[in-house]
Amino acid sequence: MTVKKICCIGAGYVGGPTMAVIAKQCPDIQVTVVDLNEARIAAWNDHDVNKIPVYEPGLSEVVSEARGRNLFFSTDVDQAINEADMIFISVNTPTKTYGAGKGQAADLKWIELCARQIARVSKSDKIVVEKSTLPVRTARTLKDILQHTGNGVKFQILSNPEFLAEGTAVEDLLKPDRVLIGGDQDEEGKKAIEALVNIYAQWVPRERILTTNVWSSELSKLTANAFLAQRVSSINALSELCEHTEADINEVARAIGTDSRIGPKFLKASVGFGGSCFQKDILNLVYIARSYGLTEVADYWEQVIIMNDHQKKRFANKIIKTLYNTVNGKKIAFLGWAFKKDTNDTRESAAIYVADHLLYEQAHVGVYDPKVPEQQVYTDLDYLATRSSDENSKLVQVYNDPYEACKDAHAVAILTEWDEFKHYDWQRIYDNMLKPAHIFDGRNILDKAKLENIGFKICPIGS
Ligand code: UDX
Ligand code: ADP
Repeated sequence: MTVKKICCIGAGYVGGPTMAVIAKQCPDIQVTVVDLNEARIAAWNDHDVNKIPVYEPGLSEVVSEARGRNLFFSTDVDQAINEADMIFISVNTPTKTYGAGKGQAADLKWIELCARQIARVSKSDKIVVEKSTLPVRTARTLKDILQHTGNGVKFQILSNPEFLAEGTAVEDLLKPDRVLIGGDQDEEGKKAIEALVNIYAQWVPRERILTTNVWSSELSKLTANAFLAQRVSSINALSELCEHTEADINEVARAIGTDSRIGPKFLKASVGFGGSCFQKDILNLVYIARSYGLTEVADYWEQVIIMNDHQKKRFANKIIKTLYNTVNGKKIAFLGWAFKKDTNDTRESAAIYVADHLLYEQAHVGVYDPKVPEQQVYTDLDYLATRSSDENSKLVQVYNDPYEACKDAHAVAILTEWDEFKHYDWQRIYDNMLKPAHIFDGRNILDKAKLENIGFKICPIGS
């Protein structure tokens, strides 16, 4: 089967970039990305391509090449579903905030709504592709809903988890380590798998396109994220030990990373991992393991989250302790709010939790991030509901200029590893701060010796 029209439900950080790259690489396929959020779709359609809602290096170029040619963004979900041969589901699957599994299980409300909408609208056979990260056996739910429409339309369900990392999404999509496609192993299932393989094969070498059964594919995505997050928690756990000994975590990471069995990536000690995936996916894994009575398995993976929470709290406590055990009324300048560099995404960013802890101690927090809009900072803090929105607005100020953010501060905290922070005029920053001027480098990106020369007191992670 040759796919001519694709629809993607969900124009977020995964759906948007993924579909833009498919459209770029497959000019013969019409790709329509739909979303209920009108403002988001309007932003994707903004004639100024720099105003698209997802910031990713290289993405605006890809969008401007394909948009209007074979890439469309629309709020008409029904029409796009009806016309498509293949439908990607790329809606949000946040951790549940209510009921059974609260705080751990994925909330599949949006997935189910999508499935019901597809079932209601479709008049011809479709291949439905799970793109969002989903708990193992979600395809079963989709199948149950789609196969009971009673209108004779046939659906094939595939799992095609997305492994792109934010900040490098375009590069990851153009040159993926692998593409994973899970589907039924019967004849119809194999045909559907082949249809999706043929799309990716237009730019990904065939040997990098792995096909499995649906359940292996679903579980592989959770497992990949759990392994990656575990590496960060492992190095962060050792960073604390380094701070109590003469060891330096950067040297330890370099030494172990040269072991080809371990490898050098994902060994960067930090203020803690964030992002929409790691925590959510591990909590989900923990929930699934517990639901099968696998207590040891669940406890094992839960520890990765416990360690990450500890690292964020430890960083905030270190600031408080170093500033003579009180930050009440003191200005702490945050450089960075996004969960990593080169993205405007702040979901689960360590910065939110570190700020919350400092605000609890009545600190004043000044925030500068090159890509995060002012309102997002307040939305993130208000979402925690630790204090009133008015109080957050009083204690937190967001700046457009990093030098203003650092002015009159007792300390600067680096929360995101944006490259530009390395190249600031640190002498100017020092001159405008209260003394002693402290820097808490939560990403170990600054040149310690150079800054100490200026007069700063530096607290890196893990040394
Ligand atoms: C992750 C996976 O990498 C990706 O394959 C999956 O599709 C989605 O989840 P993402 O969350 O976008 O991607 O970014 P990633 O680069 O994995 O970073 C996650 C968090 O870990 C960030 O907060 C980052 O700063 C932190 N991190 C990463 C570290 O603290 N140290 C490291 O060495 C690596
Ligand atoms: P991700 O990072 O996985 O892409 P996002 O939260 O950024 O997640 O994006 C998911 C998008 O899916 C949101 O823009 C949301 O409005 C959209 N969405 C959720 N449910 C539906 C639905 N039933 N129909 C259309 N769009 C939906």
